[in-house]
Amino acid sequence: MAELIPVLTETEIEQNIHVLARRISDDYRNKNLVLIGVLKGAFVFLSDLMRCLTIPVEIEFIRLSSYGISDTSSGRIDIHDNILLDLKDKDVLIVEDIVDTGLTLTTLAEHIKSLQPKSVKICALIDKLERRKTDCKVDYACHTVEGGFLVGYGLDYAEKYRNLPAIYHLKL
Ligand code: IMP
Ligand code: MG
Repeated sequence: MAELIPVLTETEIEQNIHVLARRISDDYRNKNLVLIGVLKGAFVFLSDLMRCLTIPVEIEFIRLSSYGISDTSSGRIDIHDNILLDLKDKDVLIVEDIVDTGLTLTTLAEHIKSLQPKSVKICALIDKLERRKTDCKVDYACHTVEGGFLVGYGLDYAEKYRNLPAIYHLKL
């Protein structure tokens, strides 16, 4: 039987998001902020984060496939670009659920940069450190962990558990 070990409660997530949103609102005041959410995992985080921002913001989504149903990165990332907004002169903040090896975000950041925004930074619900393979820097993290496979609050394992309101370590 799969075991779910609590990592972050709903209240802790909410508190961390408020702190993060305050930092982002300060850093992007008088800029042209666009949040680009990475589907599917980031949609829960993005929807809570954007409602805590106190500055104007535009929202876009991009869909990627890298993981399949395994728990390790395949290293091959397909970008299904759906970006209709003109990003020129915009300050893009990529919003991702979790950064593990960093391969996904490194590839995605390069793609976004090719659309010529003014700046590109990275915001992640979870910054997972142990398996990082690239020098991809997470500028804003809601929570940092060493390792383990996490689920809930948008994070899935084989498409399950996204609907859990808190974050758990999944032990199979
Ligand atoms: P990376 O390319 O290795 O950084 O993998 C990033 C992607 O793998 C994330 O966007 C997630 O979709 C998935 N992923 C990595 N670790 C986890 C985890 O602990 N739980 C759920 N998904 C994960
Ligand atoms: Mg993801």
